[in-house]
Amino acid sequence: MTAPESRQLSTAFGKYRLNRYPLRKKELLQAWDAADEYLLNHLAEEGIVTPGSKILVVNDGFGAVTVSLAKMQPAMQTDSFIAQWSTEENLRSNGIEPESISLLPSTVDLGDQHYDLVLVRVPKTLALLEHQLSTIKRHLTENGKIIGYGMVKQISRSTLDLFSAIIGETRTSLAKKKARLIFASPDITLADKGSSYPIWYSLEGYGFQVCSHANVFSRECLDIGTRLLLEHLPERHDFQDIVDLGCGSGALGLVAGSRNPQSRIFFIDESYMAVASAEATFKATGLGNESVFIAGDGLEGFARQSVDLVLCNPPFHQQHVVGDFIAWGMFQQSHKALRRGGELRIVGNRHLNYHIKLKRIFGNAEVIASDRKFVIIRAVKQ
Ligand SMILES: C[S@@+](CC[C@H](N)C(=O)[O-])C[C@H]1O[C@@H](n2cnc3c(N)ncnc32)[C@H](O)[C@@H]1O
Repeated sequence: MTAPESRQLSTAFGKYRLNRYPLRKKELLQAWDAADEYLLNHLAEEGIVTPGSKILVVNDGFGAVTVSLAKMQPAMQTDSFIAQWSTEENLRSNGIEPESISLLPSTVDLGDQHYDLVLVRVPKTLALLEHQLSTIKRHLTENGKIIGYGMVKQISRSTLDLFSAIIGETRTSLAKKKARLIFASPDITLADKGSSYPIWYSLEGYGFQVCSHANVFSRECLDIGTRLLLEHLPERHDFQDIVDLGCGSGALGLVAGSRNPQSRIFFIDESYMAVASAEATFKATGLGNESVFIAGDGLEGFARQSVDLVLCNPPFHQQHVVGDFIAWGMFQQSHKALRRGGELRIVGNRHLNYHIKLKRIFGNAEVIASDRKFVIIRAVKQ
C-alpha cells in the first residue's frame, strides 16, 4: 500500500515524520500523543539527556520517543511486535539505521546492561507494569532515573502505587494536554521481590497446565468466551494446518492439536509474551503435533490458500486504542489464507455482530452455538 501522508512530530529533539503500522488507507490516528511530546520536551528543558547517557525506552507505541532520541542510541524494549515493527520503519524513514538501536522484545533478558535513564510508557495492563518495574529496577545505574509517562486517563492510583511500592517515592507532574509524567526515586532499601511471572494455571476439564507471562490476555484463568469456543472445536482427519490466531497463552491451539493429532499448529500473536506463553504451554503438554510459534501481525506473510482452520477470539484493542479494526483485519487475512473448504471459527460477544462482517467477507456465516453473552460463528471459504 502507498503510505498515507505521514505526520510530523516536532519537539526540542528535532522534527520527524512518523507513521503507525500497519499502514491503513484512511488513518485517523497519529503515531504519537501528548504524553510523548510532554516527555521529550521535559527531557530537553531539564537537560536530563546528556551525551553518553545509557537510555532504555520501554513500551514506546510507534517509536516516537526512540526515533527522537536516536542520536543517543537508546535501547527500546516492547512486548508488541507491531510497536517494534513501527519503530523500525519510522527509524528507517527518518534516515536512521534501525541496527543502530537495540530493539529488545520483552522476552529478551536485559543481561548485564545498566541504564542511566529508563522511560516507561504506562502500559494497559498493571501486571505488565509490575513485571517491567520489578525487572528494570535491577538494571539501573547507581544514580539511574525512571520517568513514567502516559495520558491522564491511563494513569490510575494503582499505577502510582506500583511505582512507589517497587521503585520508591513517587510524584507526578502537572497535567499538560491531558498527559502526565511520573517521577519515581529509586530506593534501594525497598525489598526487591522480583517479578512473579510467568504463572501457571490448570485448564480445568482438559488436564493441561497453561503458562501466562505478565502481558497475556486472561492470564490467571481461562476466559469464558474461549471456554465456549473450546467446547465447539472441530475434529477432522484432513486438517493439515490449524492456526490459533491471537493465541494468548495458546489454549485454543493446544486443545485443537489434541483433537487433530495429524495437524500442524501455528500459534500467532503480536505480543512476544503471548507467544512465549503459548510455546511453554504447548511444550509442557507433550502433544506430538508439529508446532510453529510466530510473533507477528496476524496472518501477514501466510501464502494464499495455505491453512485449513483458523481459530480466533478476536482482540478488541491495540495498546490503548479500542475498536473492531483488528478483528476485521484478522477476518480478511483468514479469508485469504484459508484453503477452499477451510473455515474460520471464532467466539465473540453477541453485541459485536461479527456475523455481519464475516458474511461480507466470506459470503456465509453460521452461528453454531451461543450462550447469554457469547456466540460461536463459523465461516467457510468457498
Ligand atoms: C482476546 S485475546 C485472545 C487470546 C487467546 N486466544 C484466548 O482465547 O485466551 C486476543 C489476542 O490477540 C492478540 N493480538 C492483538 N492484535 C494482534 C495482531 N495484530 N496480530 C496477532 N495477534 C494480535 C492479543 O495480543 C491477544 O493475545
